[in-house]
Amino acid sequence: MMTVESDKHARDELRSFGRKRARKPSPRQQTLWDAALPRLRVDPATLADNPLPSLFPAPVTEVWLEIGFGGAEHLIHQAAANPDVGLIGCEPFEDGVIKALTAIEERGLPNVRLHPDDVRPLLRALPPASLTKVFVLFPDPWPKARHAKRRLVSKTFLDTLARVMLPGAELRVATDIPAYARTVLEAAIPHPAFRWTATGPADWRTPWPDWPGTRYEAKAHREGRRPMFFTFHRV
Ligand SMILES: C[S@@+](CC[C@H](N)C(=O)[O-])C[C@H]1O[C@@H](n2cnc3c(N)ncnc32)[C@H](O)[C@@H]1O
Repeated sequence: MMTVESDKHARDELRSFGRKRARKPSPRQQTLWDAALPRLRVDPATLADNPLPSLFPAPVTEVWLEIGFGGAEHLIHQAAANPDVGLIGCEPFEDGVIKALTAIEERGLPNVRLHPDDVRPLLRALPPASLTKVFVLFPDPWPKARHAKRRLVSKTFLDTLARVMLPGAELRVATDIPAYARTVLEAAIPHPAFRWTATGPADWRTPWPDWPGTRYEAKAHREGRRPMFFTFHRV
């Protein structure tokens, strides 16, 4: 259904996501994919030469990035609630991209663009200091020790984010897996470009005020896992 991007770094990177598709798209979904995605898709090759807000048809005051939007609940909620912000959503899982396309078209949201693939080549192509918020919400947990190296969040990942985030920009990370929370904090706390804003457990136990919930979060609650919400600021 889609082409897979690659660059010289991508060849060395372990895959951080699972399936790219769960079910065959319906004819209507295929039409949406063929007709709407080319219009909404971000082309990493063009990013260096243009200011990021120019991706959007109407003026936007800032640009936010959601990495691994899954069923797009949060992406669509934020886009509808913040019409003056441009949102870029990244997701290699095609069923999720179709959900996002459906919602964007049904709700007529002009301020969303999509990268239907691994975020990492896109991050390398983004202009420096161009994002004011980045969301990494329930990244694939890779709970087995032998798979932990596939976790998206790492020092290298934060280095890449640091380049594209403006000073003062916010990085939000949610996870329901204690070992992943440790991975996140061990990468972020010593990182010179990020500051963890928490002052006590209530900070990471309480969702953000504009949090709509996601499917994955609901599953975590059903299965008895307690989500954690981490906020970091780009120094
Ligand atoms: C556990 S799901 C959570 C989805 C959603 N954020 C939620 O809370 O319901 C993690 C998502 O991250 C996506 N993902 C994993 N690695 C990624 C990468 N390198 N770039 C973009 N998305 C990625 C997966 O395809 C998957 O949909």
